[in-house]
Amino acid sequence: MTNCKVVAALVGFGLALPGIALAQDAPLEEQLVNQMNKVFGVHAGFRANHAKGVVVEGHFKASPDAAGLSRAVLFGGTEVPVTVRFSDSTGVPNLPDGSDDANPHGMAVKFHLPDGSDTDIVINSLKFFPVSTGEEFRDLLVAIAESPPDAAKPTKVEQFFASHPTVPAALGTVATPDSFADEAYFGINAFVFVNKAGERQAIRYQMVPDKVVHLDKAEAAKRAPDFLMQELPARLKQGPVTFHFKAQLAAAGDSTKDPAKPWPDDRKLVELGVLTIDKALPDSDEAQKKLLFLPGQLTDGIEESDDPMIDVRNGAYAVSFSRRNP
Ligand code: HEM
Repeated sequence: MTNCKVVAALVGFGLALPGIALAQDAPLEEQLVNQMNKVFGVHAGFRANHAKGVVVEGHFKASPDAAGLSRAVLFGGTEVPVTVRFSDSTGVPNLPDGSDDANPHGMAVKFHLPDGSDTDIVINSLKFFPVSTGEEFRDLLVAIAESPPDAAKPTKVEQFFASHPTVPAALGTVATPDSFADEAYFGINAFVFVNKAGERQAIRYQMVPDKVVHLDKAEAAKRAPDFLMQELPARLKQGPVTFHFKAQLAAAGDSTKDPAKPWPDDRKLVELGVLTIDKALPDSDEAQKKLLFLPGQLTDGIEESDDPMIDVRNGAYAVSFSRRNP
């Protein structure tokens, strides 16, 4: 999605907002946010999903290999400033960080390019998505909303899990980290790199820390409610945190449009560069309200794949942004 299209999407959804009543004929993007509001509640000023987060800053420096894959200016080798938001899942802004529901954790990165534009990646700690399409994600949210604690067994959500085995499989790939810095994050949706020669390569992003440290459930439950949000700024006072930004390359025949289907582990991984985080923001809570990260906010040299979920995400994030900044 170009910057112009992003603005058009925002204005379009902003003007079309009918409130949060469920309308069967509402666009899918609105139905998704409506269902999130139903499952997680409406919390004024907060994101419909990944409501609780912390914003930090740093820079990205590309490796020489990155430019061979993509002509994007971000991979040119000069240092690019970044704004990063780490988050807990769900639209519940006071969810304890150690709760199982806070998985998967999110990482959203805004690369500030030399020409004044931005390009974003919005990734999380699931190795692959629970369902294949935006429609199925809506149906999963409907099943959750229709499965209160006193629902008859098997509940709607139990039935959905049974008919969509990728849901329990995907949820089985996440655990609570001991720090946002000790977690690996995955792009899940495929994008296409285009290099200077016009060669195209489908990729999926990975953001790999120096080490992954996961807590077991009992240990996670004992942690303070905001331990992840507080640990990162404290850690940054001791020194920077780094991640290795990588691209997993698709081989012939790998599906680029099914985010519930991971590519085999032996696919080539190319190091795109090192992301360094060195500064916490004193006004993180204020800053995150105004920030909008979009998976389709791209720059020349990076394109959307044929995965329709990317545009559905762009639309849903724009709806959520319009509602949290009325
Ligand atoms: C159809 C599928 C999806 C829908 C409908 C959806 C919806 C949303 C919405 C409405 C928000 C709040 C946006 C805002 O207010 O700014 C959000 C945030 C987020 N989503 Fe998704 N999402 C989907 C798939 C994914 C996938 C596949 C990933 C990871 C690869 C992901 C990672 C995140 C992250 C990290 C955030 C927080 C962004 C931030 O910090 O601003 N989502 N999502």
